[in-house]
Amino acid sequence: MSNAASGVGIPAHVPPDLVMDFDFRNDPRLRADPWSVFNAMNDKPDIFFSPALGGYWVVTRAELVAEVMRRYDLFSVRNIGIPVVQGAPVVIPNNLDPPVHAKYRRILSQQMFSPQALGSVEQDSRQLTRTLLERFERSGACEFVEAYARPLPVLSFLQMMDLPSERLPEFMSWIRGIFHSAATEERAAGFQHAHQFLSHWLDERMTGPLPVVGGHMLAALLTAQVDGRRLTKDEMLSIALMLLVGGLDTVTSQMTHIVRFLAESPPHRQRVIDDPACIPDALEELLRRFGISNIARTVARDCTFHGVALKEDDSILCSTPIANLDARVFPAPLTVDFDRPNRKDHWAFGAGIHLCPGAYLARVQIRVMLEEVLPRLPHVRLAPRATIEYVSGGTLAIKALPLVWDAPAV
Ligand code: HEM
Repeated sequence: MSNAASGVGIPAHVPPDLVMDFDFRNDPRLRADPWSVFNAMNDKPDIFFSPALGGYWVVTRAELVAEVMRRYDLFSVRNIGIPVVQGAPVVIPNNLDPPVHAKYRRILSQQMFSPQALGSVEQDSRQLTRTLLERFERSGACEFVEAYARPLPVLSFLQMMDLPSERLPEFMSWIRGIFHSAATEERAAGFQHAHQFLSHWLDERMTGPLPVVGGHMLAALLTAQVDGRRLTKDEMLSIALMLLVGGLDTVTSQMTHIVRFLAESPPHRQRVIDDPACIPDALEELLRRFGISNIARTVARDCTFHGVALKEDDSILCSTPIANLDARVFPAPLTVDFDRPNRKDHWAFGAGIHLCPGAYLARVQIRVMLEEVLPRLPHVRLAPRATIEYVSGGTLAIKALPLVWDAPAV
């Protein structure tokens, strides 16, 4: 019997007609085709309650998802995961509500992520891309996640943090552990290793000279001010961990969904190769079509939201794949149409005060990938008999993407 049918875990304030099964982490259909599961939310009520994962509300309309993200007076970020993890560390700035949030957010927006602060990021991303491509482009085959989509954002992070690129294997293994281990202990161990490493590294760098070239994110951590004082080490560590968990696996996943689609759709792929001027538009439509973030909010106080009574501490899912596939906003939402008139109006990077500060960086990295990678892998396609498996959670990812292409004769 399903949870909804058995009535397990349904709080008294939830009307029975709003209870529906939806487990955005464990529904077995997500493994093969998550997009049809999220697209099916078009047929659900605007707001419903799922008894799965400890019980949570789901908003199924793009405008409501954005409203929940924007209404920080009603919806707090003190817990942004489903199921709720008691005692989870507070991550700056994602777990901070106003007014404290703005003090830290300013550091990220101005000193870390503005196009000016990011300076040479486009040239750097291009250089990293070419270096990675040289390792596999002549082989005619690769597993794209490990060969490119994971190392690229990690190498970029290492550069911006003034960390040696030799650390790549460790960082990759911690991130694999945090995001892709089945066992809770392995996920915790990945986080613990990253925490310990960054903590020791900050101890060293806080007493040494500022980076001379590159490393602008480390320089920002070491020099930024809140309330007229420098950041404490704990604050620096929290921000560094936020960047690690928020900015690496997201880019990897987004890139992988996009390349998987293009590998299976020769007309779209050819258009990107033949007409690079279309890439900015193509990118927005691909970000819309393949939303990846399942973030939550916690109801801050008892309230009625669009006619539904919510109780303080209820969890509410704000899913960007659901928002981006809302057929009322994006007709035929599963169709990829680079010329879709409102392709830029998506919620891939969230909405409101927590809107992703890394959006510009992510867009540059993915655009450079489209410009550099596709032309060098002629007729790239999925490897014969490849089975693609998705993992759905806070980030919707593809486990592995085996590709083949026509390598030049040696
Ligand atoms: C395609 C890639 C990415 C996607 C889809 C994405 C998505 C998101 C979303 C949906 C949020 C809003 C979270 C919320 O409302 O609670 C967010 C916030 C955030 N993202 Fe990203 N992100 C990406 C890349 C990055 C990168 C590259 C970085 C940094 C290296 C980054 C750093 C952050 C931070 C620090 C926040 C929290 C902002 C705040 O609380 O004010 N993200 N991201």
